[in-house]
Amino acid sequence: MNPLDKLTVPLLEWYRDNARRLPWRDDPTPYHVWLSEVMLQQTRVAAVLDYYRRFLEAAPDVAALAALPEDRLLKLWQGLGYYSRARNLQKAAQVIVERYGGAFPSDYAAVRALPGVGDYTAGAVCSIAFGQAVPAVDGNVLRVYARICGDEGDIASPQMKKKVAQAIRAAIPLHAAGAYNQALMELGATVCLPNGAPLCERCPAKGFCAALARGCTAELPVKAPKKPRRVEERTVWLIFWEDGVALRRRPDKGLLAGLWEFPNEPGDGPLPQSWGIEALSEAYAGQARHIFTHIEWRMALRAVEAGGDALPPGWVWAGGDELEEKYAVPNAFERALGCAKERLNGGE
Ligand code: ADE
Repeated sequence: MNPLDKLTVPLLEWYRDNARRLPWRDDPTPYHVWLSEVMLQQTRVAAVLDYYRRFLEAAPDVAALAALPEDRLLKLWQGLGYYSRARNLQKAAQVIVERYGGAFPSDYAAVRALPGVGDYTAGAVCSIAFGQAVPAVDGNVLRVYARICGDEGDIASPQMKKKVAQAIRAAIPLHAAGAYNQALMELGATVCLPNGAPLCERCPAKGFCAALARGCTAELPVKAPKKPRRVEERTVWLIFWEDGVALRRRPDKGLLAGLWEFPNEPGDGPLPQSWGIEALSEAYAGQARHIFTHIEWRMALRAVEAGGDALPPGWVWAGGDELEEKYAVPNAFERALGCAKERLNGGE
Protein backbone atom coordinates (compact mmCIF):
# COMPACT_ATOMS: atom_id res chain seq x y z
CA MET A 1 0.00 0.00 0.00
CA ASN A 2 1.16 3.52 -0.76
CA PRO A 3 2.10 4.85 2.70
CA LEU A 4 0.56 8.17 1.73
CA ASP A 5 -2.94 6.71 1.30
CA LYS A 6 -3.80 7.03 4.99
CA LEU A 7 -2.79 10.65 4.92
CA THR A 8 -5.15 12.09 2.30
CA VAL A 9 -8.33 12.61 4.34
CA PRO A 10 -6.76 13.88 7.59
CA LEU A 11 -4.34 16.06 5.61
CA LEU A 12 -7.09 17.77 3.61
CA GLU A 13 -9.17 18.31 6.76
CA TRP A 14 -6.16 19.73 8.56
CA TYR A 15 -5.43 22.03 5.63
CA ARG A 16 -9.03 23.24 5.46
CA ASP A 17 -8.77 24.27 9.13
CA ASN A 18 -5.16 25.47 9.25
CA ALA A 19 -4.16 26.90 5.87
CA ARG A 20 -2.55 30.30 6.20
CA ARG A 21 -4.50 33.01 4.44
CA LEU A 22 -2.11 34.19 1.72
CA PRO A 23 -2.78 36.67 -1.08
CA TRP A 24 -2.04 34.21 -3.88
CA ARG A 25 -4.43 31.72 -2.27
CA ASP A 26 -7.26 34.26 -2.31
CA ASP A 27 -7.02 34.57 -6.07
CA PRO A 28 -5.03 31.63 -7.45
CA THR A 29 -4.71 32.61 -11.11
CA PRO A 30 -1.86 30.85 -12.91
CA TYR A 31 0.12 34.11 -12.95
CA HIS A 32 -0.33 34.62 -9.20
CA VAL A 33 0.55 31.03 -8.37
CA TRP A 34 3.59 31.03 -10.65
CA LEU A 35 4.93 34.32 -9.29
CA SER A 36 4.41 33.34 -5.67
CA GLU A 37 5.99 29.92 -6.15
CA VAL A 38 9.09 31.38 -7.80
CA MET A 39 9.41 33.91 -4.98
CA LEU A 40 8.86 31.20 -2.36
CA GLN A 41 11.78 29.26 -3.77
CA GLN A 42 13.98 32.09 -2.55
CA THR A 43 12.69 32.82 0.92
CA ARG A 44 10.00 32.36 3.52
CA VAL A 45 6.35 33.34 3.23
CA ALA A 46 6.65 36.31 5.59
CA ALA A 47 9.42 37.86 3.49
CA VAL A 48 7.64 37.18 0.20
CA LEU A 49 4.44 39.08 1.07
CA ASP A 50 5.88 42.54 0.45
CA TYR A 51 7.76 41.52 -2.67
CA TYR A 52 4.65 39.90 -4.06
CA ARG A 53 2.48 42.97 -3.47
CA ARG A 54 5.01 45.39 -4.98
CA PHE A 55 5.63 43.10 -7.93
CA LEU A 56 1.92 42.88 -8.76
CA GLU A 57 1.55 46.64 -8.49
CA ALA A 58 4.27 47.03 -11.11
CA ALA A 59 3.26 44.03 -13.22
CA PRO A 60 -0.38 43.11 -12.59
CA ASP A 61 -0.48 40.54 -15.37
CA VAL A 62 1.68 38.52 -17.73
CA ALA A 63 1.66 41.18 -20.46
CA ALA A 64 2.81 43.87 -18.03
CA LEU A 65 5.63 41.62 -16.81
CA ALA A 66 6.70 40.92 -20.39
CA ALA A 67 6.98 44.67 -21.01
CA LEU A 68 8.67 45.69 -17.74
CA PRO A 69 12.01 47.51 -18.22
CA GLU A 70 14.85 45.29 -17.01
CA ASP A 71 16.12 47.77 -14.42
CA ARG A 72 12.67 47.95 -12.90
CA LEU A 73 12.41 44.17 -12.83
CA LEU A 74 15.75 43.78 -11.07
CA LYS A 75 14.90 46.52 -8.61
CA LEU A 76 11.64 44.74 -7.73
CA TRP A 77 13.67 41.59 -7.11
CA GLN A 78 16.39 43.30 -5.11
CA GLY A 79 17.10 41.34 -1.93
CA LEU A 80 15.45 38.10 -3.05
CA GLY A 81 18.65 36.83 -4.68
CA TYR A 82 19.02 34.49 -7.66
CA TYR A 83 18.32 37.25 -10.15
CA SER A 84 18.29 34.81 -13.04
CA ARG A 85 14.93 33.70 -11.70
CA ALA A 86 13.55 37.20 -12.22
CA ARG A 87 14.96 37.30 -15.72
CA ASN A 88 13.47 33.90 -16.49
CA LEU A 89 10.09 35.05 -15.18
CA GLN A 90 10.18 37.86 -17.69
CA LYS A 91 11.39 35.62 -20.53
CA ALA A 92 8.57 33.20 -19.79
CA ALA A 93 6.07 36.07 -19.75
CA GLN A 94 7.35 37.12 -23.16
CA VAL A 95 6.90 33.57 -24.47
CA ILE A 96 3.35 33.49 -23.09
CA VAL A 97 2.55 36.77 -24.85
CA GLU A 98 4.16 35.82 -28.14
CA ARG A 99 3.20 32.16 -28.37
CA TYR A 100 -0.04 32.00 -26.40
CA GLY A 101 -1.47 35.49 -26.92
CA GLY A 102 -0.96 36.35 -23.23
CA ALA A 103 -3.08 33.47 -21.90
CA PHE A 104 -1.16 31.23 -19.51
CA PRO A 105 -0.87 27.74 -21.05
CA SER A 106 -2.58 25.00 -19.05
CA ASP A 107 -0.95 22.02 -20.69
CA TYR A 108 1.67 20.58 -18.31
CA ALA A 109 4.30 20.08 -21.00
CA ALA A 110 3.81 23.66 -22.25
CA VAL A 111 4.13 25.07 -18.72
CA ARG A 112 7.19 22.91 -18.01
CA ALA A 113 8.82 24.19 -21.22
CA LEU A 114 8.68 27.86 -20.14
CA PRO A 115 12.03 29.42 -19.24
CA GLY A 116 12.95 28.83 -15.60
CA VAL A 117 10.08 26.42 -14.96
CA GLY A 118 11.14 23.04 -13.53
CA ASP A 119 9.15 20.04 -12.36
CA TYR A 120 8.25 21.68 -9.08
CA THR A 121 6.95 24.96 -10.47
CA ALA A 122 5.08 23.26 -13.32
CA GLY A 123 3.46 20.91 -10.82
CA ALA A 124 2.51 23.74 -8.47
CA VAL A 125 0.95 25.90 -11.21
CA CYS A 126 -0.88 23.03 -12.91
CA SER A 127 -2.27 21.62 -9.67
CA ILE A 128 -3.06 24.83 -7.78
CA ALA A 129 -4.27 27.02 -10.65
CA PHE A 130 -5.65 24.36 -13.03
CA GLY A 131 -6.59 21.54 -10.65
CA GLN A 132 -4.50 18.95 -12.46
CA ALA A 133 -3.45 15.84 -10.53
CA VAL A 134 0.31 16.32 -10.82
CA PRO A 135 2.90 16.33 -8.00
CA ALA A 136 4.80 19.40 -6.78
CA VAL A 137 7.72 18.16 -4.73
CA ASP A 138 9.72 20.74 -2.81
CA GLY A 139 11.91 20.39 0.28
CA ASN A 140 8.87 20.52 2.57
CA VAL A 141 7.19 17.65 0.77
CA LEU A 142 10.36 15.56 0.77
CA ARG A 143 10.69 16.00 4.53
CA VAL A 144 7.05 15.15 5.21
CA TYR A 145 7.28 12.05 3.03
CA ALA A 146 10.57 10.87 4.52
CA ARG A 147 9.22 11.13 8.06
CA ILE A 148 5.74 9.70 7.52
CA CYS A 149 7.11 6.79 5.50
CA GLY A 150 10.27 6.38 7.58
CA ASP A 151 12.26 6.55 4.35
CA GLU A 152 16.01 6.95 4.85
CA GLY A 153 16.72 7.82 1.22
CA ASP A 154 18.84 10.93 0.55
CA ILE A 155 16.37 13.76 -0.16
CA ALA A 156 19.07 15.61 -2.11
CA SER A 157 19.16 12.78 -4.66
CA PRO A 158 17.18 12.76 -7.92
CA GLN A 159 16.10 9.16 -7.22
CA MET A 160 14.38 10.17 -4.00
CA LYS A 161 12.61 13.09 -5.70
CA LYS A 162 11.40 10.72 -8.38
CA LYS A 163 10.19 8.20 -5.85
CA VAL A 164 8.28 10.82 -3.88
CA ALA A 165 6.77 12.28 -7.06
CA GLN A 166 5.56 8.80 -8.04
CA ALA A 167 4.08 8.15 -4.61
CA ILE A 168 2.22 11.46 -4.79
CA ARG A 169 1.02 10.83 -8.32
CA ALA A 170 -0.55 7.64 -7.01
CA ALA A 171 -2.08 9.25 -3.92
CA ILE A 172 -3.19 12.68 -5.11
CA PRO A 173 -6.97 13.11 -5.05
CA LEU A 174 -8.35 14.07 -8.46
CA HIS A 175 -10.93 16.46 -6.99
CA ALA A 176 -8.50 18.37 -4.74
CA ALA A 177 -5.07 18.22 -6.34
CA GLY A 178 -4.16 21.84 -5.61
CA ALA A 179 -5.28 21.68 -1.98
CA TYR A 180 -3.42 18.39 -1.54
CA ASN A 181 -0.10 19.69 -2.81
CA GLN A 182 -0.43 22.91 -0.86
CA ALA A 183 -1.42 20.96 2.25
CA LEU A 184 1.72 18.82 2.04
CA MET A 185 3.86 21.94 1.70
CA GLU A 186 1.96 23.74 4.43
CA LEU A 187 2.42 20.80 6.78
CA GLY A 188 6.15 20.87 6.09
CA ALA A 189 6.35 24.64 6.51
CA THR A 190 4.33 24.95 9.72
CA VAL A 191 4.28 21.57 11.57
CA CYS A 192 6.75 19.04 10.20
CA LEU A 193 9.57 21.51 10.77
CA PRO A 194 13.17 20.82 9.78
CA ASN A 195 16.20 20.48 12.05
CA GLY A 196 14.62 18.09 14.50
CA ALA A 197 11.92 20.40 15.83
CA PRO A 198 8.60 19.13 14.45
CA LEU A 199 5.32 19.94 16.24
CA CYS A 200 4.05 16.36 16.12
CA GLU A 201 1.20 16.87 18.55
CA ARG A 202 -0.49 19.08 15.94
CA CYS A 203 0.11 16.78 13.01
CA PRO A 204 -2.71 15.02 11.16
CA ALA A 205 -0.31 12.12 10.56
CA LYS A 206 0.67 11.57 14.19
CA GLY A 207 -1.27 8.28 14.36
CA PHE A 208 0.68 6.64 11.55
CA CYS A 209 3.95 8.59 11.09
CA ALA A 210 6.81 6.09 10.97
CA ALA A 211 9.42 8.57 12.21
CA LEU A 212 7.30 9.53 15.21
CA ALA A 213 6.56 5.89 16.06
CA ARG A 214 10.25 5.03 15.87
CA GLY A 215 11.34 8.17 17.71
CA CYS A 216 13.57 9.24 14.85
CA THR A 217 12.05 12.54 13.66
CA ALA A 218 15.40 14.18 14.38
CA GLU A 219 17.23 11.74 12.12
CA LEU A 220 14.88 12.12 9.16
CA PRO A 221 15.04 13.26 6.47
CA VAL A 222 18.52 12.12 5.50
CA LYS A 223 20.31 14.68 3.40
CA ALA A 224 23.80 14.10 2.01
CA PRO A 225 26.11 17.03 2.78
CA LYS A 226 26.92 19.34 -0.10
CA LYS A 227 30.50 19.82 -1.09
CA PRO A 228 32.02 22.77 0.74
CA ARG A 229 31.83 26.23 -0.81
CA ARG A 230 34.86 27.90 -2.27
CA VAL A 231 35.92 30.85 -0.11
CA GLU A 232 37.04 33.98 -1.92
CA GLU A 233 38.66 37.01 -0.30
CA ARG A 234 37.67 40.25 -2.02
CA THR A 235 38.28 43.94 -1.57
CA VAL A 236 35.24 46.16 -2.14
CA TRP A 237 35.92 49.80 -2.93
CA LEU A 238 33.59 52.56 -1.81
CA ILE A 239 34.81 55.38 -4.01
CA PHE A 240 33.29 58.75 -3.13
CA TRP A 241 33.36 61.96 -5.07
CA GLU A 242 31.25 64.90 -3.92
CA ASP A 243 27.72 63.48 -3.34
CA GLY A 244 28.18 60.26 -5.21
CA VAL A 245 29.64 56.81 -4.91
CA ALA A 246 30.99 54.77 -7.82
CA LEU A 247 28.97 51.82 -9.13
CA ARG A 248 29.58 49.56 -12.06
CA ARG A 249 27.43 46.97 -13.75
CA ARG A 250 28.32 43.29 -13.52
CA PRO A 251 28.75 41.28 -16.71
CA ASP A 252 25.62 39.92 -18.40
CA LYS A 253 26.54 36.33 -17.60
CA GLY A 254 27.44 34.54 -14.39
CA LEU A 255 27.04 35.39 -10.72
CA LEU A 256 24.71 38.39 -10.11
CA ALA A 257 24.61 39.03 -13.85
CA GLY A 258 23.74 42.57 -14.90
CA LEU A 259 23.32 43.94 -11.37
CA TRP A 260 25.05 47.04 -10.02
CA GLU A 261 27.94 46.70 -7.60
CA PHE A 262 30.62 48.59 -5.79
CA PRO A 263 33.85 47.98 -7.67
CA ASN A 264 35.59 44.98 -6.17
CA GLU A 265 38.48 42.67 -6.91
CA PRO A 266 39.69 39.33 -5.58
CA GLY A 267 42.44 39.51 -2.97
CA ASP A 268 43.61 42.42 -0.84
CA GLY A 269 45.58 44.44 -3.35
CA PRO A 270 45.64 48.24 -3.71
CA LEU A 271 43.14 50.32 -5.71
CA PRO A 272 43.80 49.18 -9.29
CA GLN A 273 45.70 51.86 -11.20
CA SER A 274 43.94 50.84 -14.40
CA TRP A 275 40.75 52.46 -13.06
CA GLY A 276 42.44 55.84 -13.37
CA ILE A 277 41.06 57.09 -10.05
CA GLU A 278 43.07 59.57 -8.03
CA ALA A 279 42.73 58.65 -4.35
CA LEU A 280 43.00 61.64 -2.01
CA SER A 281 42.53 59.34 0.96
CA GLU A 282 41.87 55.72 1.59
CA ALA A 283 40.71 53.93 4.74
CA TYR A 284 39.46 50.60 6.01
CA ALA A 285 35.65 50.75 6.24
CA GLY A 286 34.69 47.37 7.65
CA GLN A 287 34.27 43.80 6.58
CA ALA A 288 31.44 41.62 5.36
CA ARG A 289 30.65 38.08 4.36
CA HIS A 290 28.17 36.76 1.86
CA ILE A 291 27.24 33.17 1.17
CA PHE A 292 26.13 32.18 -2.31
CA THR A 293 25.18 28.64 -3.32
CA HIS A 294 28.66 27.56 -4.39
CA ILE A 295 30.92 30.32 -3.16
CA GLU A 296 31.49 32.50 -0.13
CA TRP A 297 32.84 36.03 -0.33
CA ARG A 298 34.85 37.44 2.56
CA MET A 299 35.04 41.13 1.85
CA ALA A 300 37.21 43.92 3.15
CA LEU A 301 35.57 47.30 2.56
CA ARG A 302 37.80 50.26 1.75
CA ALA A 303 36.59 53.85 1.43
CA VAL A 304 38.32 56.17 -1.01
CA GLU A 305 37.88 59.91 -1.50
CA ALA A 306 38.49 60.60 -5.18
CA GLY A 307 40.16 63.76 -6.41
CA GLY A 308 38.03 64.05 -9.55
CA ASP A 309 35.04 62.61 -11.33
CA ALA A 310 36.92 60.42 -13.82
CA LEU A 311 35.58 56.82 -13.93
CA PRO A 312 36.13 53.90 -16.27
CA PRO A 313 33.57 53.65 -19.11
CA GLY A 314 30.11 52.43 -18.05
CA TRP A 315 30.61 53.23 -14.35
CA VAL A 316 28.33 55.79 -12.70
CA TRP A 317 28.31 58.11 -9.73
CA ALA A 318 25.19 57.26 -7.74
CA GLY A 319 23.75 59.71 -5.23
CA GLY A 320 21.95 58.61 -2.05
CA ASP A 321 18.48 58.69 -3.64
CA GLU A 322 19.65 56.82 -6.70
CA LEU A 323 21.16 54.10 -4.53
CA GLU A 324 17.76 53.77 -2.93
CA GLU A 325 15.53 53.93 -5.95
CA LYS A 326 17.38 53.43 -9.18
CA TYR A 327 20.15 50.87 -8.99
CA ALA A 328 19.60 47.21 -8.06
CA VAL A 329 22.54 46.40 -5.79
CA PRO A 330 22.45 42.78 -4.58
CA ASN A 331 22.43 41.74 -0.92
CA ALA A 332 26.04 40.62 -1.14
CA PHE A 333 26.88 44.34 -0.90
CA GLU A 334 24.47 45.13 1.93
CA ARG A 335 27.19 46.26 4.32
CA ALA A 336 28.88 48.34 1.65
CA LEU A 337 25.52 49.84 0.72
CA GLY A 338 24.92 50.77 4.35
CA CYS A 339 28.33 52.48 4.55
CA ALA A 340 27.72 54.36 1.32
CA LYS A 341 24.27 55.56 2.37
CA GLU A 342 25.57 56.67 5.73
CA ARG A 343 28.27 58.74 4.07
CA LEU A 344 25.96 60.16 1.36
CA ASN A 345 22.84 60.78 3.40
CA GLY A 346 24.59 61.63 6.65
CA GLY A 347 23.33 58.51 8.43
CA GLU A 348 20.25 56.34 7.96
N1 ADE B 1 6.02 26.92 0.07
C1 ADE B 1 6.20 27.07 -1.26
N2 ADE B 1 5.05 27.02 -1.92
C2 ADE B 1 4.09 26.82 -0.98
C3 ADE B 1 2.70 26.66 -1.05
N3 ADE B 1 2.07 26.71 -2.21
N4 ADE B 1 2.05 26.43 0.12
C4 ADE B 1 2.73 26.37 1.28
N5 ADE B 1 4.03 26.52 1.40
C5 ADE B 1 4.72 26.74 0.27
